[in-house]
Parts: sequence; structure tokens; C-alpha cells
Amino acid sequence: MIVESNVPLQPYNSFGIVARAQHLARIAGEADLAALHADPAWRDAPRFVLGGGSNIVLTGDVKSLVLKVEIKGLRLLEETPRAWIVEAGAGETWHDAVEWMVRNGYPGLENLALIPGTVGGSPVQNIGAYGVELQDRFDSLDAFDLETGRSFTLDAAQCAFGYRDSVFKHVRSGPNDFGLAGKAVITRVRFRLPKPWKAVVGYLDLERKMEETGNFTPSAQDIFDWICAIRRAKLPDWRVLGNAGSFFKNPTVTPEQCADIIARDPKIVHYPMDDGSIKLAAGWLIDACGWKGKSVGNAGVYERQALVLVNRGGRENPVTGGEVMTLAKAIQTSVYERFGIRLEPEPVVV
Ligand code: EPU
Repeated sequence: MIVESNVPLQPYNSFGIVARAQHLARIAGEADLAALHADPAWRDAPRFVLGGGSNIVLTGDVKSLVLKVEIKGLRLLEETPRAWIVEAGAGETWHDAVEWMVRNGYPGLENLALIPGTVGGSPVQNIGAYGVELQDRFDSLDAFDLETGRSFTLDAAQCAFGYRDSVFKHVRSGPNDFGLAGKAVITRVRFRLPKPWKAVVGYLDLERKMEETGNFTPSAQDIFDWICAIRRAKLPDWRVLGNAGSFFKNPTVTPEQCADIIARDPKIVHYPMDDGSIKLAAGWLIDACGWKGKSVGNAGVYERQALVLVNRGGRENPVTGGEVMTLAKAIQTSVYERFGIRLEPEPVVV
């Protein structure tokens, strides 16, 4: 196990921000994690787990030991009358894993095609798009405990999934908390893909595709292709224009708060939730404040989706984490001043 020093992180974050890792270890399997744990030089060092780098803002060099997860492997683990169970290494590229499953006849994750990042990052923020969330197709995961040096398995309940949230985003602050941020590395994820497969096409963009094509009984491959087309039309490809996907979570408000906003802004995009709360489209709120297409330094608001902040300086003159956060704060302030709503960033700020 080699620990590299002074490693450039620009290739490893989807914003394309320039920063360095003081120390970085490439993790190809549990044995590498065990070796680090056994080494007194590294056992107690603060660590930062890096997956696909598609949901982070680097605001400076990283002093913690960066664990770059590169664990590979994709296989059908089990097939029962009710589901396919597929296991994937945490370092697999998310989109490639989804494509592999759809191609090989294990459908169920097609609505989550083209989400950047790795398999290991998918449970951390319970990725979701077009009517499907990871937790709907999750079986269990294996992780390595950086404190004890032991591997363990978690089921869905133990992952405490929420909207763009899980136990891996929380720091343990008391004896009853179960936060695992910085304490565990996800090594493998198992997906439970229910049989018989059913298309999830309730989302407006997918209904439009059915109308357009006249195909009202799409296969998983059709949905996969539609999702790729929808995302390509609306969201920037981070390889061309650096970004970290949606920069803010869609906020939830009480029906009273929502009624108050509707009275002032009748066009506000809102969705009632099962628990009685109302989810607002953060992209709409930001757009309504006039941010679409605006920039602060090299940090910009994407022209076609105001929820996405982009790197306007490319690889040569890239945005800094500071510029991204300055723009994010300016957006938060104007949305708060106009709507009284505090937007919460989605990416992890490092
Ligand atoms: N809208 C605007 N202006 C904008 C952007 C959006 O008016 O600039 C309106 C849209 O017209 C639409 C509504 O806001 O009526 C919602 O927009 P969209 O359908 O694009 O979805 P979103 O709520 O902005 C969420 C996820 C995305 C996911 C899409 C599709 C969050 C924070 N984002 O975006 O996830 O792909 O739904 O399911 O929940 C991500 O998390 O990185 C991500 C891209």
C-alpha cells in the first residue's frame, strides 16, 4: 500500500477546482484499508473519503489523508422469484454500473442513469432522480470501520436514508447517534431490483417522452435512453463544464408557509409530500431571484438550470472553492430576503 504525497486533486473533482491532497492512498480493496489501519503512521490520521468527487467543493488543500476508493467489481449475487440482487464495488462509476445492469437484464436503476459519481457515493447522499431514489432499490452495503479496523454490513434501516441524506453524512455527536461521517468507508453496495420490473414514468419529463415517441410501454432500456437524453438537454456535462449537480437541496415548508408564498408568487413550483409538508423547487426560487446565467468571478449559475453552479474558467483558469461559496452565499441571501427560505447546500464543502 503506497501513500502518495502532494497529489493534485483537480482530476478528481467534477468542478475541476485546483487543490492538492497532502497524502492520498488508493484503495483497491478491503486489504488496503486493513493495511492502513495496521500502520501506526496512518491509523489515527484524520481521513477524507473520496469517491467520484462529484459532490464536493474543495476550498483549499486537503490536509487529511485522502482515501480514494477504487474498489471494482460487478456481479449478479442472487436471483430470487422476487428480485435480482446485484453487488457492485464502491469504486465503480455509477452510470457504467447502471448501464451494465440494464444491458444484462437486471433493470430497476434506469431512472438514475447519468448521475455522476461512484457506486460508493450513491448511498451517502441517497441519490435520486425522475421518481426513483437509491433507497427504493437498496439491499445492503459493506463498509470498513476506520476506528476498529473491522468490516461491517448495514441494511437500509441502518443507513437512515433521508432526502439526499444518510448516516454517512452525519458526525456522531452523542452516545445515541449513529453518525459515520469520516469513520467508515463504503466498500461494496448491493442493490435489490424487484421482480417483475415496473416502469417508473410518472415524472413530467418522462410523460413527455412517451407522448413524443408514442411509446407508452417503454422497456428499461428505453427509459435509460430517455433519461440520458433528458439529462443531457438540461444538465451540463461536468467533463465539459465543471459542476457538482444540484447545488442546493429542494427545501420543504409547511402548507401555511407555502400559502403565504403563493399569495405573493402564484407561479411557484411546489409538490405536496406524503407527510403533509410541501417541497419547493430550489431551481425555481433561484431563477425567480434573477440568478440564471449570472457569475461571480469564475463561478456561474447555469443558463438552463439555476440549481446548478458551474466552473466558467475551465481547466486552465478554474473556479476556486472560495468563488463557488461566495456565489452560493449570495444566492442564499437573495432567496432568503425574497422568500424567507434558507437554502441548504447539497455538496460537501471540504
Ligand atoms: N425550475 C425553474 N428554473 C430553473 C430550474 C428549475 O423554474 O432554473 C423549475 C422547473 O421548471 C421545474 C422545477 O423547477 O418545474 C424542478 O426542476 P427539475 O425538474 O429540473 O428538478 P429539480 O428539483 O431542480 C431534482 C434533483 C435533481 C434531479 C431532478 C430530476 C434535487 C436537489 N435535485 O432537481 O438531482 O436530477 O430533480 O429528478 O433534489 C442532484 O441532486 O445533483 C440532481 C441533479
